[in-house]
Amino acid sequence: AEAPKQEKGMNAFRPLRVHVIGAGTMGADIAAWCVVSGMQASLQDLSEEQLEKGIARGQKLFKKRLRGKRDQDAAKARLIADPQGIHLPRADVVIEAIVEKLDVKQGLFKSIEGKLKSGAVLATNTSSLKLEDIAEGLTDPGRLVGLHFFNPVPQLPLVEVVRGEQSREEEVRKACLFVTAINKMPLIVRSVPGFLVNRVLAPYMMESVAQFESGQPREKIDQAAEKFGMPMGPLELMDMVGLDICDHVGKTLGLAPESDNTLSRLVKEGKLGKKTGEGFYVWKDGKPQREE
Ligand code: NAI
Repeated sequence: AEAPKQEKGMNAFRPLRVHVIGAGTMGADIAAWCVVSGMQASLQDLSEEQLEKGIARGQKLFKKRLRGKRDQDAAKARLIADPQGIHLPRADVVIEAIVEKLDVKQGLFKSIEGKLKSGAVLATNTSSLKLEDIAEGLTDPGRLVGLHFFNPVPQLPLVEVVRGEQSREEEVRKACLFVTAINKMPLIVRSVPGFLVNRVLAPYMMESVAQFESGQPREKIDQAAEKFGMPMGPLELMDMVGLDICDHVGKTLGLAPESDNTLSRLVKEGKLGKKTGEGFYVWKDGKPQREE
């Protein structure tokens, strides 16, 4: 990792319109956050239900973050549900935040490459796939960069800007400018498994699963980490991130056994954490039901 370069002369890139594909945990929050920062964001998803939920979550965020009704209404108008992706060709920044499956991502990028505005930043929010693999099949693979946001997006200021082996320097710098423009902190990292943050975080999470499997109550594990100073315990955090994502990251880093641990079992049962209402905890009204 290295600190991003802030160079003079890069002012020409002024991102105003963002198009986000995937309106799940991450995509919806990324789009809404861009709107809070003054931009226009169009949000695309295959599922109408997800799109509706994502827009509703965005509107909640506007109420929380923006004071006057006028600003909230203006923000509502700037967050656009776009199931067909008709706003994509006008976007200055396009961010993919769909399922963590290589073939699905490759297919999506191939289908949108020809529709992009010249000079637009093309980014993936992948947490564990190699940029080089995702870019396979693109006519211009040097255009793709990673913009790895953290969950929950409104609270976490860091965004890893991932430079793939082929990513052009110009694209990396534009991506950093975009991150700064939405009031987050860019950190340039190489396209290695786990980038920087997950390399540190994943062993901690997997150890908490091992503790849970050895019979420690989930609340005790989380409380111990919180007493240590963490804002939330590792099991609650995993539920928030999504157990499918954690399982994938753990396996990519070679930390999670291929099958048969609690994490894989919960994923197989469709218990993915907060987004499905149950993971290590049962979730109600956005909160884990803890037994103190
Ligand atoms: P999610 O499962 O909550 O949402 C994915 C969304 O993509 C769903 O709404 C689905 O309907 C939609 N989708 C799937 N295929 C599509 C397609 N072809 N076109 C349009 N929409 C499509 O997933 P989540 O957690 O938001 O993750 C998205 C990406 O962000 C993944 O690559 C993940 O690795 C990454 N990520 C996730 C983090 C997390 O904490 N959950 C953190 C950082 C990155």
